[in-house]
Amino acid sequence: MNITIINGPNLNLLGVREPGIYGSEGFESYLKRLRSQYPEVDIEYFQSNHEGEIIDRLHETGFGKTDGIVLNAGAYTHTSLAIADAIAAINTPVIEVHISNVHAREEIRHRSMISNVCRGVIAGFGLDSYRLAIEALTQIIHL
Ligand code: DQA
Repeated sequence: MNITIINGPNLNLLGVREPGIYGSEGFESYLKRLRSQYPEVDIEYFQSNHEGEIIDRLHETGFGKTDGIVLNAGAYTHTSLAIADAIAAINTPVIEVHISNVHAREEIRHRSMISNVCRGVIAGFGLDSYRLAIEALTQIIHL
């Protein structure tokens, strides 16, 4: 099974950025642990601060190249109709993920442009949100 994690803007700064909200671990070190927890899953990782690059990666992976996508679109979650359209266009199931509980934060973060085109949403469990999304994908993907 092949799963692609796509992280959006500012998530390259995990571990450094607002640690009270996002924690003090960088994503690369978390990813190592995640990969060792799921040796049977081939976990690809892509991060970009650019909306178009995220869309390009959704197109590239979303037609059979990967079995499932875990997407933390960062702030684009709340603004990007273009990312929502890309998710709607592809075949691969996409799980929307957030490290923080966006519903317990500022009102502008309560609205997601992408939830309605994602298979499900996981938010608020810190970096463990990614593992929970992989767990969900392993249940819904039947190879
Ligand atoms: C986030 C929540 C977003 O509101 C924010 O813009 C992010 C990270 C999260 O993982 O909690 O960049 O997606």
